[in-house]
Amino acid sequence: MSNSFDLIVIGAGPGGYVAAIKAAQLGMNVACVEKRGALGGTCLNVGCIPSKALLESSERFEETLHHAAEHGIKTGKVSLDLKTMMKRKDEVVDGLTKGIEGLFKKNKVEYIKGTATISGANEVTVGKTKYNAKNILIATGSDVMPLPGVDIDEKQIVSSTGALELDNVPGKMVVVGGGVIGLELGSVWRRLGAEVEVIEFLDRIVPGMDAETCKQFHRILEKQGISFRLGTKVTGAKKSKTGVELTVEPAAGGKAEKIKADIVLVSIGRKPYTDKLGLDKVGIKTDDRGRIPVNHHFQTSVPSIYAIGDVIAGPMLAHKAEEEGVAAVEIMAGQAGHINYDAIPGVIYTWPELASVGKTEEQLKESGVKYVSSKFPFMANSRGRAIGQTDGFVKILADKETDEVYGVHIVGPDAGTLIAEAVIALEYGASSEDIARTCHAHPSLNEAVKEAALGAFAKPIHI
Ligand code: FAD
Ligand code: NAI
Repeated sequence: MSNSFDLIVIGAGPGGYVAAIKAAQLGMNVACVEKRGALGGTCLNVGCIPSKALLESSERFEETLHHAAEHGIKTGKVSLDLKTMMKRKDEVVDGLTKGIEGLFKKNKVEYIKGTATISGANEVTVGKTKYNAKNILIATGSDVMPLPGVDIDEKQIVSSTGALELDNVPGKMVVVGGGVIGLELGSVWRRLGAEVEVIEFLDRIVPGMDAETCKQFHRILEKQGISFRLGTKVTGAKKSKTGVELTVEPAAGGKAEKIKADIVLVSIGRKPYTDKLGLDKVGIKTDDRGRIPVNHHFQTSVPSIYAIGDVIAGPMLAHKAEEEGVAAVEIMAGQAGHINYDAIPGVIYTWPELASVGKTEEQLKESGVKYVSSKFPFMANSRGRAIGQTDGFVKILADKETDEVYGVHIVGPDAGTLIAEAVIALEYGASSEDIARTCHAHPSLNEAVKEAALGAFAKPIHI
């Protein structure tokens, strides 16, 4: 193996491994360094994929247990085999990470196992070996954000990683943080039988997403049995053999209270990961949130060193990291890599799902732009009725005069798939009339998007 490359990518998450493959396709001689012993990063190993495997399995369990009878399906005694559920999840992860190894081989990307340190503007050290590179791409991702006073041991007090591999269904799980991880993994364990309580510092869940849509989402989750304490902070945790005692108090100050839990999930966000990377050696400074600053070309303050994904600013999402990885290497190859940050969807894969793209109503209000808001409920969608999934709505925000779509927010069945047409609409600057006049198959959940669009510039038919 040569020690000289056109590009060395540090980190093989969705940002790094996709960038490495794309760079090789563009004719570069590429190496990708990964320290965890498996490719795919947080997303494949301890994030997107294992969580979605468990969301699917737990959803099927709940469906069989509580809803099969509604469809006239009689079952015998339904019971949980958690070990098999976990094994299936591990096999899904294993298959996908090995698949990336195959893609590396196919595209002639050199996979270097180990921890990379940047030892110069064009030099990376792994163990005792030094490698030269015309360009270096940092894609080292993020790590769990700790909560002072609540020490994660991955047994009783867990991060998302521990919550993906519990041996037993806890009697009570307290989730600290009502964001994406807390609601997805809280849903998994509630469906499997745990009592789940979410403690959120702010006065609403999933801050940053459209407030009206989240309010409806909150109500649905509550109806399913998750309880919420909003405007509350956790100030301490005491572990014993029988569980964890948390001290909580109102975020605005007030009387402290104790809550008992078998398992506590800490999911208050993630922080960029740059440990032992050697940024100081090349003079790259991180910002006040630990992120690596980059320009529009993803270049750091050292022009030969680029950065993408969770380690730079923006939403911590796998598809955002992938898009940035592709754009960064296209730019290195002299092409015009570009990302429209206004058209990056966000999805929470609970059931129903919450999916969102573009501006929220709060953002439009703040900008002073004149807009219309149109909502269409799944209760009035024939496919939703046929499949027995009527919770939620599609909400479209469009310019009052030009009708350009600014944002689409969906809480409902398969919202994560439905949002794709809204992303394309935003990407191409479509109007709500463009969406409404596009033929949608019947009976489909997508017709709810069409009807919401109709409502934005004219009138919906079915309500
Ligand atoms: P990462 O995936 O974090 O990969 C970085 C890699 O770099 C890691 O493998 C790390 O070992 C390696 N590394 C770090 N330092 C070094 C070094 N010095 N040398 C060598 N290797 C190094 N996003 C979604 O879009 N959809 C989802 O459904 C979703 N679900 C999630 C569920 C959970 C539980 C979690 C925790 C996250 C989820 N995310 C999801 C977020 C998603 O995982 C991240 O946004 C994404 O993985 C970021 O990609 P990345 O390539 O920037 O970094
Ligand atoms: P998050 O940022 O989504 O949510 C954290 C929540 O914790 C917020 O509501 C915040 O107000 C609250 N919080 C912060 N400090 C608190 C405290 N001390 N006490 C109580 N609440 C507190 O972060 P989360 O859920 O940890 O996820 C991390 C990242 O992973 C997110 O950026 C997300 O984008 C990504 N992710 C994406 C998924 C998806 O796309 N489906 C799934 C899971 C994770």
